Order: sequence, then structure tokens, then C-alpha cells
Amino acid sequence: MGSHFTQVDGGVRYGPTMKAVSIKAFGDPSGMAVIDAPDPSPGPGQVLVEVETIGVGGVDAVIRRGTLGGYGFTEGLIPGSEVAGRVIAVGDDTDAAWVGRRVWAFTGVGGAYAELAVARIADVTPLPDALSPTDAVTLGSAGPVAHFALAHARFSPGESLLIRGAAGSIGIMAVQLGGPGPIAVTTSSAERGKRLTELGATVVLDRDGTGTGEYDVILDIVGGPGLPAFVDRLADNGRLVSVGVVGGYPPADFGMAFLRSFQRSRSFATFSLNTVPEEARNQVREAQFEAPLKAVVHDVLPLAEAADAHRRMDAGEVFGRIVLTTGAN
Ligand SMILES: NC(=O)c1ccc[n+]([C@@H]2O[C@H](COP(=O)([O-])OP(=O)(O)OC[C@H]3O[C@@H](n4cnc5c(N)ncnc54)[C@H](OP(=O)(O)O)[C@@H]3O)[C@@H](O)[C@H]2O)c1
Repeated sequence: MGSHFTQVDGGVRYGPTMKAVSIKAFGDPSGMAVIDAPDPSPGPGQVLVEVETIGVGGVDAVIRRGTLGGYGFTEGLIPGSEVAGRVIAVGDDTDAAWVGRRVWAFTGVGGAYAELAVARIADVTPLPDALSPTDAVTLGSAGPVAHFALAHARFSPGESLLIRGAAGSIGIMAVQLGGPGPIAVTTSSAERGKRLTELGATVVLDRDGTGTGEYDVILDIVGGPGLPAFVDRLADNGRLVSVGVVGGYPPADFGMAFLRSFQRSRSFATFSLNTVPEEARNQVREAQFEAPLKAVVHDVLPLAEAADAHRRMDAGEVFGRIVLTTGAN
């Protein structure tokens, strides 16, 4: 796709338009299109990033399908929430020393599938020299989500853990953080099970969780109609934390599974990184960038092939994360 920047008197001029990918129509990936969008400009407290890489998250597919319309997502949006690249401008009230720095940035509920992206300075983390922009967008969001979801479940090292939907970027981080006790994973193939075992899993289950065993904590990334059956896999005082809904919402009466086993003192909670204070999130991300977890990159594609990335996610082909690149560096 290539950069549309030009050098002017030793500085950089950008605009007036950039390449981006838009969800023109909710539904299958054919509703996604490459567009020319106006260059964004950073507001107060924001930076403008010349994007090198973009992480394609499971949530992007959930938004594209239209599942989250009730949360205010509308057709025509530029999806994506995490990028890595170089800061090329800052808004008012933002330290100009950020210009030129390589960063990871969270762009909010959209705006990342683009050559330029704006982020609040509170959502920007500097990249250590040793970390590639591809690994940064594989770790930057999923690592803190896994860390704080385990904390939300009051998970203590040594407890047993089941990760439902472990083959995605969040699950792969949780597998690496979950030891030293038993770590069970659900996945759809023996080959994926082997890869998850290499990352730290000790028990591999099919998607239905077939088999015996109860767990102190279940981290659930799937939801959907299969969720109630997993309540019976919680030990006494076990905690099930819902982190994602890649399989859709569970049945409305799934709370009955807890009430039917009242004497077991099991509990359920949702978890969103949104409720973690910014400073805590940033500290954990910085620490994870310095001593990185293993970044599992499924493939790297040009930004213009974003719809293909979504097709591959929908086909269930992706283990880890697909990363898009703009060609800038
Ligand atoms: N809580 C937060 O703060 C937060 C932050 C970001 C994202 N999210 C949420 O996290 C989710 C995305 O996470 P991710 O990118 O790690 O997931 P993902 O890659 O989209 O999916 C994880 C795995 O789940 C399995 N799976 C998919 N559909 C399934 C189904 N119908 N039934 C059973 N298993 C299924 C697949 O593995 P197998 O084929 O191997 O079974 C897949 O690799 C989204 O729901 C997003 O909204 C939450």
C-alpha cells in the first residue's frame, strides 16, 4: 500500500487522505472495503501514529458481523483497536518529545485499520528496541487482558485453570501466565492441542470439554450455547470469568446452572479491561514488552487484504493473531 507521506523542508507532510479499511456493511467480510479516508488529526492529549502494523482481534470479527450493534457500532466504521508505529504529531497539551518515538497504541473502539491512527496519550506504550511492531500488536492488548482477567478471577499460582477458546491471542497469553498448576485448554484439533501444550497447557480437551476434572478457575472466551455445561467443571468455590463471546451469547437462563449447584459456592463474573485503571494496564503492558511472552503470529498480510484476514478468522484457520502491515517503517 505504501506511505503517502512526503518530505517538506525537512519535515513530514501528510494528507489530505490515507488508505484505510472500512466495514461498509455488517455481515460477511465482503462488506469490508479499502477506502480513502481523511487523515485524522490528533486532538488535545492525543498523538498521531504513522501505522506500521495492526493487530486483527477476534473482537474485530464480532463487530464486523454486527453482533455488537447494540453497543453503538455503525456501518461505515474503520475497525481495529491496536497499532504499532511511529508518533508523527501530537495534539495540544501533549509532550512534543513523543514525536519520532516507536510506540504501541490502543485506538479505542475503531480506527486502527488505517495508515494513520489517533490515540490518547494514556493509551500509548513506548516500544523497547528489541520488540518488533508485529510482536507488539500480538501482545499489547491480549497480554494485559489475560493478566487482569486472571486477577479478576482471584487466580492464585498453583490453582487449576481451564481456558475455553485457548487458541486465540487472549487464550495463548493466559496459557503462558497460568502455571504452575494444571492448565486445561479447549481447542478444535490435536495439532492445536500440541501447540498449546508447547506453550504450557497440561491437559487438552475438545471444544465440549469432554473428560473428567474440575477446575478452580475457568477463563471463558467463547460463551455461546455451550457455556452452561462448563459450570459443572468448576470445583467448590470455583470462579468462571467471561472474557469474550466469540461463540455468541450464552442462553439467557444459564445462571440456573449455578443455582442448581448452590452447595458448591461457585461464582460467575464478566471481565473487561476497560475497568482496569490506565496506569495499572500500562505498567503491566510495559513489563510484558520488556520480558515478552511468546507472540504467536499466524500470518502477516497487507492492510488491503484485511477482508481476507477476516475470512480466515471466520473459517477458524487462525491460531494466534493475524497482523496487517501498511508498508510504512
Ligand atoms: N475482556 C476484555 O477486556 C476483552 C478485550 C479484547 C477482546 N475481548 C473479547 O475476546 C474475544 C476475542 O478473543 P481472541 O481474539 O483470543 O479469540 P478468537 O481468536 O476469536 O477465538 C478464540 C478461539 O475460540 C475457539 N472458538 C471460536 N469459535 C468457537 C465456537 N463457536 N465454539 C467453541 N470454540 C470456538 C477457536 O479455537 P478452536 O478452533 O481451537 O476451538 C478460536 O481460536 C472477543 O469476544 C472479544 O470481544 C475481550
